Amino acid sequence: MLLAIPDVLDAAGVARVRAVIDGAEWVDGNVTSGHQSALAKHNEQLPEGSAAAKQAGAIVLEALGRSPLFFAAALPLKVFPPLFNRYGEGQAFGTHIDNAIRIQRGTEFRIRSDLSMTVFLEDPAAYEGGELVVEDHFGVQRVKLPAGHAVLYASSSLHHVTPVTRGMRVASFFWLQSMVRDDGARRILFDLDRSVQRLTGELGGADRSVIELTGVYHNLLRHWADA
Ligand code: NI
Repeated sequence: MLLAIPDVLDAAGVARVRAVIDGAEWVDGNVTSGHQSALAKHNEQLPEGSAAAKQAGAIVLEALGRSPLFFAAALPLKVFPPLFNRYGEGQAFGTHIDNAIRIQRGTEFRIRSDLSMTVFLEDPAAYEGGELVVEDHFGVQRVKLPAGHAVLYASSSLHHVTPVTRGMRVASFFWLQSMVRDDGARRILFDLDRSVQRLTGELGGADRSVIELTGVYHNLLRHWADA
């Protein structure tokens, strides 16, 4: 599944994040890479665990906590602390796959990366290139979203970021472990959730069929979820 999640951050939220990160110290992006992706990666990022990354990451996580669409699609169990990267002219990230297990440096915190997320933090008109290209079973998806919008996609997908040819691409990126490991099962739950929400709007929450379908949703979740 690949899903755009609009307006995770509003303009003020994007400005708050940018105010924190723009003046911070950036380092070579290869500090978080495995050996293979280090060969492909050319960008800068905020050091993991730096004060700026923590402060800006808290803003991103707080915003995600207010997004019912994010919750319904991701069913998050554990979220890796958000990281931040930027690509200047000529920088890119070649085709790679994200590591299956992410360990937060200097802590016991570890997750299985089921889903990868990018939150765009720059106006797309302000830079050229810098598209996130994700290869999934439905073909190749090219993603470049307005500032504050996010994309959620299966971490099992090969993906790359095309070279920036003008301006600067700025984004937050991170991984999460879902309560539901299987992408197909998670997709079924998401579709059912959306249908139930729509029926609730049309028929009201006291409708017998709405109650029964809500039961089916929760019973499937009980079946498939780790909590
Ligand atoms: Ni990646």
